[in-house]
Parts: sequence; C-alpha cells; structure tokens
Amino acid sequence: MSDHVHLHEVGPRDGLQNEKAVIGVDRKVALIDLLSGSGLQDIEVGSFVSPKWVPQMADTPEVLGQMQRAAGVTYGVLVPNMRGWDGFAPFANGPFEIAVFISASEGFSQANLNCSVRESVARAAPVVTAAQEAGVGVRGYVSCVTDCPFDGPVAPDAVAEATGLLRALAPMQVSLGDTIGKGTPERVGAMLEAVLHDTPADQLAGHFHDTTGLATRNIAVALDLGLRHFDSAVGGLGGCPYAPGAPGNVATETVLEMLDKQGWHHGVDRDVIAKAAVMAKGMRA
Ligand code: HMG
Ligand code: MG
Repeated sequence: MSDHVHLHEVGPRDGLQNEKAVIGVDRKVALIDLLSGSGLQDIEVGSFVSPKWVPQMADTPEVLGQMQRAAGVTYGVLVPNMRGWDGFAPFANGPFEIAVFISASEGFSQANLNCSVRESVARAAPVVTAAQEAGVGVRGYVSCVTDCPFDGPVAPDAVAEATGLLRALAPMQVSLGDTIGKGTPERVGAMLEAVLHDTPADQLAGHFHDTTGLATRNIAVALDLGLRHFDSAVGGLGGCPYAPGAPGNVATETVLEMLDKQGWHHGVDRDVIAKAAVMAKGMRA
C-alpha cells in the first residue's frame, strides 16, 4: 500500500468562508499564490454559492481571474447548483475542479443548502453532468459524518448511503467531513468501515475539523484503514457558517508534522506552509 499521503488544501475556501470581515481579493490571491509554490497539488480556492448566504466567497470569480495557475496544481471550487455552474463556466477550460456537497443528516442539509439531502443530490446531478461534458473534474463532499449540529449523532449507514448517492452520479472522490469536529477515533473508524463496504479507500478523503484536538488521531485511524487523501487548512482556519460550533479545519502544518514523524511521504515544503500559515492567521478578524 502506498506510503504517499496527498493533502488537499482547503484554507482559502473552508478556512476563509466564515470570516465576517471582507478580505480583499489581493490578500486571497497572495495566499493562494504562496500555497501554489508549496508542492501541494490540490488547493480549494472558492465557492460559487449565494453571496447572501456566504458573502466572503462572493469574489470567487475575481480570485480565479487574478491568481496564478501553477503547473501541476488543480484548483477546486464548490458548486452546489446550476446557477453556480453558470458562474463557474467561464473558467471551465482552466486547471479547475468542482465540488458538489451534500450532508449525511437532514438538519444540516436544510441549514446549509436550504433543501433535503435527496433534493441536494438532484441539484448536484446536472452540475456533475455539465462538468463531465466540459471535461472538468468533480469531487464530492459528505458533511456531518459523525455528528450533526442539529440532529445529533449520525449513523455510519447514513454516511455510506450519502456517499453512494454522490457516486451514483459519477465516479468521484468523496471527502468525508467531520463538520463540527466531534468525531472520536472509535466512531470515525466505525463510520469508515461502513463507507468502505461499498467505496474503495482510494476514492475517499478525510476532512476533519479540530474541535476537541482529535483530528490527527482520526487521520491516523483513516490511514490505518487505507485512506491516503486528507483535507486540511493552512493556519487551522475554518468553520462552516451553517454549522454552529464548527471550529477550524485541522491545520496543514500540524498534519505535515504528524506525517513526517510517522515516516509518510507528502511532497510538501513545510517552510512554505509555515509562511502561508502566518499569512492565513493574519486574515482572521
Ligand atoms: P436557495 O435560497 O435555496 O436557492 O439557496 P434558490 O434557488 O431559492 O435561490 C435563492 C437566491 O439565491 C436567488 O437570488 C438565486 O439567484 C441565488 P435572488 O433571486 O434572491 O436574488 N442563488 C445563487 N447565487 C449565486 N450562486 C449560486 C446561487 N444559487 C442560488 N450558486 C444555495 C441555495 C445552495 C445557493 C444556498 O443555500 C447557499 O448558497 N448555501 C451556502 C452553501 C455553502 O457555501 N456552505 C458552506 C460550504 S459547505 C462546508 O463548509 C462543508 C464542507 O467544508 C465539508 C464539511 O466540513 O463538512 C464542504
Ligand atoms: Mg469543512
């Protein structure tokens, strides 16, 4: 089994989306450009969502237009519906990938997307088709894989079912989000066992928020179960505007330190990430 671990940087999107004070396009572009030279191969840079719902991401088209496009880097954006696809479409020839996102719990689905889980999949379906027709890569997210801020604990089977709903649309890597960071290693392990029943480990990513300091232990459990893709945010920024209590994503620098200690390969320059972490923390209000 591979000893290479692939980090998917979500700081410029998940890290910054919750910041109340508007951060200028220039500062976002500077962070993305710095990260682009770190060796990271996947950087999530924005969202085509309603500017009324997530004002911080309203400048995503300007960010995409002004940032560097480093060779070998794929830049991700969230696209929940066809309105979002229309906003993204002018960039479809670039080095971009889109992500559709659903929840394993109904409460978070309503709060985050204003619709049921099934409705969110129906909204994602034409987006996935449009991306396939345009030759754009697609990633999926399932949120609330252990706990929902509204519905409480989430059953592992509900996560497996939600993952299956996304992958029925198209083959895609699905990132499993512990949105409010309440997952323990035991419960993350049980959830992954359920998902792995139908979906191979190389089609899954772990996306851990770090409320209780268990994120790296949860990553270790996922590594043991064969996952090699993890999301993290430089500087540990983050939180979801529709998940009260959602803390920052696990910090990229923390994950890299852990991977180095345990002898995993990752291909990322920790000095560049340390500089980016300082820059990202400076964006926090
Ligand atoms: P809605 O209100 O149900 O949509 O929102 P609607 O179709 O009824 O439209 C309402 C208004 O929004 C209309 O404008 C639309 O044009 C506009 P109005 O006529 O009122 O002026 N609209 C849009 N504008 C721009 N871009 C769009 C778009 N769609 C509709 N794509 C919607 C549905 C999905 C848009 C809304 O619920 C929304 O934007 N939600 C925010 C979702 C979000 O970005 N959440 C945070 C990211 S998810 C996350 O952080 C979790 C993750 O990190 C993993 C984890 O940790 O678990 C991924
Ligand atoms: Mg998240």
